[in-house]
Amino acid sequence: MDALSQYLDQNQDRFLERLQSVLRIPSVSAQEKHREDMRRCAETIAERLREIGMTRVEVVATGGHPVVYAEWLGAPGKPTALVYGHYDVQPPEPLELWKTPPFEPTVRDGKVFARGAVDDKGQVFMHVNAIEAHLKVAGALPINLKLVIEGEEEVGSSSLERFLTDRRRELDADVIVVSDTDMLGPDQPALTYGLRGMLYTQIDVQGPRQDLHSGHWGGAVANPANVLSAIIAALKDGDGRITVPGFYDRVRALSAREREEFRETPFDERGFLEAAGAPEPFGERGFTTLERATARPTLDVNGMWSGYIGEGAKTVLPALAHAKVSMRLVPDQDPEELFPRFEAYVKKLAPRTVTVSVTNHHGATPFLTDPHHPMIEAARRALARVWTKKPALIREGGSIPVMSTFQRTHGVPCILMGFGLDDDQVHAPNEKFSLSSYFGGTKSVAFLYEELAKA
Ligand code: BES
Ligand code: MN
Ligand code: MN
Repeated sequence: MDALSQYLDQNQDRFLERLQSVLRIPSVSAQEKHREDMRRCAETIAERLREIGMTRVEVVATGGHPVVYAEWLGAPGKPTALVYGHYDVQPPEPLELWKTPPFEPTVRDGKVFARGAVDDKGQVFMHVNAIEAHLKVAGALPINLKLVIEGEEEVGSSSLERFLTDRRRELDADVIVVSDTDMLGPDQPALTYGLRGMLYTQIDVQGPRQDLHSGHWGGAVANPANVLSAIIAALKDGDGRITVPGFYDRVRALSAREREEFRETPFDERGFLEAAGAPEPFGERGFTTLERATARPTLDVNGMWSGYIGEGAKTVLPALAHAKVSMRLVPDQDPEELFPRFEAYVKKLAPRTVTVSVTNHHGATPFLTDPHHPMIEAARRALARVWTKKPALIREGGSIPVMSTFQRTHGVPCILMGFGLDDDQVHAPNEKFSLSSYFGGTKSVAFLYEELAKA
């Protein structure tokens, strides 16, 4: 066995402890009470990067949460990779559903459970471990590296664009590398060449001036909860298509070739549905589960509230009803262009008995790249050295807002090499990262740097 692999195998316990110590920091970007934890998390990661020998390590203040930057440029003549990841995590609520507390990482059954375990601290630390291994074993990295670890991915990456454009020249790179996506199965690695975009909105419906006795007024005054339900029901038709006028105008149709590639993807549909606890497939007529979940747009209610939701029954006609409605977008849909259309349509659906307002929370442009670029071939070779099954090329349904920004600012190939699994409970209680993914991912990343040196 080569010295690099040996180092990686012998240091697994340390790699796990190192990950656990950063998982203890509640870096929830959406919650104001964690602002100081965010800074502490950024500082802690910066400290680790200094320890392993990265140079010019900085915690850069932004209008929002800080960005961690580090580089190692000791391989002149070799390619430069910009590695992107995020240290912020989603809110852990509802807390009572966690078997062990979200910020007390616990190993059970070969998996580490904690908020951020796989999304994305565990995947960021695969890179930290791989860098350390190269520098310890060879005293050098095979390529030049620039690391950008941000703290606002889960809230739309609004400060990052400024950071990237302000420092555009210093951030010059030949390839972007991101580990924040999934594998197709525990022993089935994957490279992601497409992500969906996002339009996230809120609909607020105001009915009567205040809550009313539902016997005294019910039937004679419009109920905003009923109205909102009807609006939401009208947003999709019986074929599962979104009814917003013009919504599909810019949707790129799947080519016969791409549909063939989808059919040949080793996607475990039953396992996918089982991980969700879904008894039956669901979705837009005429498309497969994999196409529906990755290459077709969709619209979903993320949260809805109105009226009395406490114990027992209360007879009340609520004054207000609210829903958070998101749309996952595909190339070449544009959230900026779609929001006014969505807003106008929702208002048109609303009767004159209520007042409706629609807010645009955040957006992300969809992402699609050439899966056959030589840089991606290098990633395929790296994965083939670690895993028994051949790496699959896939599109995924989630969003990473900065990917389309990178296409604009850098215009270089992007490698999305991630190691999440369908049952990781990402954004949900009991998030976990399988240690086989963590250590296999670390090795894959270490080999990726070697393969990129040859690309
Ligand atoms: N790592 C995910 C994105 C992801 C999930 C990619 C699954 C591929 C498969 C990322 O942290 C995330 O959750 N992004 C948000 C972005 C949103 C807040 C704009 C998402 O997709 O909801
Ligand atoms: Mn993520
Ligand atoms: Mn996420």
